[in-house]
Amino acid sequence: MEKIVIKGGISLQGEVQVSGAKNSALPLMFATLLADGQSEISNVPSLRDINTAEKLLRELGAEVTSQDNCYRINTGKVKSVEAPYDLVKTMRASVLVLGPLLARFGQARVSLPGGCAIGARPINLHLKGMEALGAKIHLDHGYVEATADKLRGAKISFDMPTVGGTENLLMAASLAEGETVLENAAREPEIVQLAEALNSMGAKIEGAGTAIIHIQGVASLTPLKCQVIPDRIEAGTFMIAAAITGGNILVRGAVRKDQEALISKLIETGTVIQPEADGLRVIGPKNLASVDIRTSVFPGFPTDMQAQFMALMTRAVGTSRISETIFENRFMHVCELQRMGADIQIDGHSATIRGTAAMTGAPVMATDLRASASLILAGLAAENTTEVSRIYHLDRGYEKIEKKLAGLGANIRREQE
Ligand code: EPZ
Repeated sequence: MEKIVIKGGISLQGEVQVSGAKNSALPLMFATLLADGQSEISNVPSLRDINTAEKLLRELGAEVTSQDNCYRINTGKVKSVEAPYDLVKTMRASVLVLGPLLARFGQARVSLPGGCAIGARPINLHLKGMEALGAKIHLDHGYVEATADKLRGAKISFDMPTVGGTENLLMAASLAEGETVLENAAREPEIVQLAEALNSMGAKIEGAGTAIIHIQGVASLTPLKCQVIPDRIEAGTFMIAAAITGGNILVRGAVRKDQEALISKLIETGTVIQPEADGLRVIGPKNLASVDIRTSVFPGFPTDMQAQFMALMTRAVGTSRISETIFENRFMHVCELQRMGADIQIDGHSATIRGTAAMTGAPVMATDLRASASLILAGLAAENTTEVSRIYHLDRGYEKIEKKLAGLGANIRREQE
């Protein structure tokens, strides 16, 4: 296994390019199953999760080739409708093949994803929505067996905004007969890109990005051609890297409108954020002010930035409180940060962080994707050396992060354990 070794204390300078968004590329890759023929998706990040999605598409019978982050996917010869457990357990987003397979082929056999480090992560809202469209859902040996002669539009109201549920139902409803209305839908930028991409394939979707989405079903769709939007979570992670090291960096590709909640909280810490031609200039303050955050669905503060912001608050002057409202177990980075000298108390879904002047480097262990990023950020600002192990978690969602940080002046390298 590999680890990342960081010698902290360097203020980051320079500029860094944000890659394509993992959480947009994944649904887009699966949306290609809705149309017969060759689709093309560019600006796809080079990540382990993308490799898993490629493997799954191939297992289904699609032809997948890629060159320079551009994927060509031909689903003309798809012959299987089964997403096997070994792939789904590796990457939960594999459940996003359910809607497309059901809509195009009238059947799907998708492994239930099971839980993950950050929570139980059920897909009950996905399944309830598919049943509302007329699918027959049967659970057998850990698999969802779904069949539908013809999906029919329906009004679906989500108990809570679910990103994956909204995406799965957007794709299924695109080929259903009649109108579907999704109420209490997720509003993330990745949902908007998926809807725009589906509309470019011939779908008739209105309202994506708001809580109510209307989909007029069509008989068939044509292949997709699009470019993945920048990854707002990767961008936010680099913005915090500048803030925590008192640096001055240009985050190329960062889109202000996609991260207003994070930006306003960073400004409250004393970080300066200035829009520039193709990104955001981020200047970290000499002293960070402590700031409270509460994660919520978009456009609120993103849960995927909670661990990274907590690393920042360990260096702030004063006490901050962080409440995690989306996932039930997303504080696994806390005990690792405590090994570096952080003063953090957990009380249920809230954490109280008393900022400390100096954190010391230490050997720490990554537990999930965003927790890994949190430890890297803490290591950049800590005295001495930090070693982050189990970085396969990190490679799921960050493309060459140590190279990008080294390009900003960080003393960071990847080594064999
Ligand atoms: C997506 O996961 C993202 N993953 C996650 O990013 C992100 O944290 C999450 O949205 C929230 O923004 C991808 O897009 C691939 P949800 P998803 O359905 O779709 C509950 C990362 O770090 N829920 O919006 O799985 C669920 O348990 C990853 O890149 C149900 O109860 O999230 C959770 O508490 C981590 N039943 C809440 O809703 C359901 O049927 C939000 O989940 C579905 C969800």
